[in-house]
Amino acid sequence: MTKKRFLSYLLACSCLWLPAASSPARENAIIAGQDGKSWAIRTRSAVYHLAVSPKGEVNALHFGNPSQPAGQARPPGHELPVRGGTVSAMPVLEAVFPDGVRDIELEYKTHELLEIDGCQTLKIIQRDNYYPLEVTSFIRALPEYDMIEKWVEVAHAGAEGVIRVENLLSGSVFLPKDLYELTHYSGAWGHELVPQTTELTQGVKTLQVRDFKSYGASTFLVRPKGETGATAGKAWFGTVCHSGNWRVDFQKAFSGTVQIAGGINFWDQEIHLQPGRKFTTPRMIFGYTEQGSAGVTTALVAYAREKILPAPLRDRLRPVLYNSWYATTFDVNEAQQLALAKIAAELGVELFVIDDGWFKGRKDGGAGLGDWTVDRGKFPDGLAPMIKKINALGLDFGLWVEPEMVNPDSDLYRAHPDWVLHFPNRGRHHGRRPQLMLNLAREDVARYLYKSLRDLLAENNIKFIKWDANKALSDAGFPSAPAGEQRAVRIRYVENLYRLVETLRAEFPEVWFENCSSGGGRLDLGMMARFDCNWPSDISDPVDRIFIHDSYLALFPAGTMSTWVAEKDWHRRSLSLEYKFDVCMAGILGVGCDISGWNDSQRKLARGKIAHYKRIRETVQKGGVSRLVSPHDENRSVLQYTDADGRKAVVFVYNLAEYPGNTVPGTRRSPLVRLRGLRPDATYRIKEMKGSFTGRRLMEAGIDFPVKGAYRSGVFEITADGE
Ligand code: DGJ
Repeated sequence: MTKKRFLSYLLACSCLWLPAASSPARENAIIAGQDGKSWAIRTRSAVYHLAVSPKGEVNALHFGNPSQPAGQARPPGHELPVRGGTVSAMPVLEAVFPDGVRDIELEYKTHELLEIDGCQTLKIIQRDNYYPLEVTSFIRALPEYDMIEKWVEVAHAGAEGVIRVENLLSGSVFLPKDLYELTHYSGAWGHELVPQTTELTQGVKTLQVRDFKSYGASTFLVRPKGETGATAGKAWFGTVCHSGNWRVDFQKAFSGTVQIAGGINFWDQEIHLQPGRKFTTPRMIFGYTEQGSAGVTTALVAYAREKILPAPLRDRLRPVLYNSWYATTFDVNEAQQLALAKIAAELGVELFVIDDGWFKGRKDGGAGLGDWTVDRGKFPDGLAPMIKKINALGLDFGLWVEPEMVNPDSDLYRAHPDWVLHFPNRGRHHGRRPQLMLNLAREDVARYLYKSLRDLLAENNIKFIKWDANKALSDAGFPSAPAGEQRAVRIRYVENLYRLVETLRAEFPEVWFENCSSGGGRLDLGMMARFDCNWPSDISDPVDRIFIHDSYLALFPAGTMSTWVAEKDWHRRSLSLEYKFDVCMAGILGVGCDISGWNDSQRKLARGKIAHYKRIRETVQKGGVSRLVSPHDENRSVLQYTDADGRKAVVFVYNLAEYPGNTVPGTRRSPLVRLRGLRPDATYRIKEMKGSFTGRRLMEAGIDFPVKGAYRSGVFEITADGE
């Protein structure tokens, strides 16, 4: 297209450049241009502007501040870049046609404005101009969360031949030319969600998972270099709503434009589309805010809580849990569990969970996985009578399972050695413990797991399932599938995993499901759409947890963060029980200690803390979270949880090592902490402090919370007068 033609086509849709001032209601979030082939998709802070060119290309024009025109002579890229023709943008779609042609040429065909779950959605259909490939882009507007969702459907619209899809992401966006910094969260076992910031220089930066274990997240923030404000400044953000193998690419061109694309990681994957068949990607969200990193957190947390979490238990308060794993590990029996349950009930716990060790042949980590019936050696009468006694103590009962794995030393593996992921003539990589991964892409495996878990839930009064998955994926072979299906194994696996959990949840809607993967190995919105809460890390040391919580709370709702008071002294520091409780009160409080060894004063303290937590948990689990002081910036962490109307808040202060004078070294900064989200004119009282404070004072001048000394903590309940 010549520059002149492009400018006149921009003019045709110029009515779409709208002022930023008003916030679009859901019903007018998508506005079509006069020509009917250009659209402005508006969120509270951004516009995503796209248009069909005279040549029939669907172009992405601008994503960001609504009053900022595209300002470039050419569109930065296509709405759905493909492998074909010139090579510049990262392709969202790469395919091979039956005759071996590997280039795609898409043309706009039609579009539709529809409503999906109450949100306006633009659906654009493009077709290859020769081959029977139909590609549908969906863009769903979520103005109140400052985001859009994108996903893609590809269909083989012909009568013969196979179209091989070698790569299909959920979507991409282009950012205006600028210098940018990317913040993302990576990690390893025990070091989940470590924030990393890096400049996006020319080239491609890829975040990806290939083995189903991330210990990080696909969530990212991209900010113009130098804009680091916590509560103000531009930030583009997003995440892939998919578990297992995902990827996000950031490509910076020499021109300065940055393209972000993400979705399923097609590394070692391929989908063979038969005539008449289609494939739909998971959703990816892309957002833009001018409220800095805090604006990103607010949007992500509200979206996860209101749109992602499973609806049946979404609004219920999470119970206080006791899990006996650290106390008894694999060596479980009825008498000892009942003794623990009795103490747990006295402490105020509401849910008693037996972790690993309860099922047939489970003498240690090397045996039993796959055989999901009770070990009669440990529980001669089965689980049901014990659960009844636990219920009689006023406690609900929960159980650990690891359905996706199998030990070679199990009846299941002896009967079906071909049910695991494997390649013929290649080794089976057992990992640390002799443990293999079932091939959940197989329908017989999915049926077996469904039946085992359904029976377990139907025969026992179980109210909570901790779903673990410890081993990383290896040997991703699916030799029993037709040749053309074998390389879709990871994709089919995740589809079946989702279906399995969804089916169980539909049948047992009152059962809580917790997502655990050797700690936080699978923290993503795909899992969060099916699980009520997450186990973020196997490290329960309060200091490590302060850092992990800081990241987790930047990305996900506090009401999904399981966290236990634990005994083990990971760093030989002997931190106080009080400190441990205060740290765990920032999420879903749990206790994981051997409480049978606790003395009276420990029990008294625990009773008090659990009662305190119950008093504030509505605000903690459902309120908005502000990370007022990050432990990465100072030697302490300060978290504020605030009710929706700003009249009630809880502040947690956790000191790490103390600095002399309680100031931050190298600065003269006072330790005053500025609160957020209160009502400026309201008068607040802080239960643990004297006097009263206006909201304005607390937010503008700040306050010195009286928490002095290394590894000391405080919990402050802040309430507006009249509450
Ligand atoms: C790993 C989990 O992360 C732990 O919490 C515990 O459930 C063990 N597995 C049990 O084997």
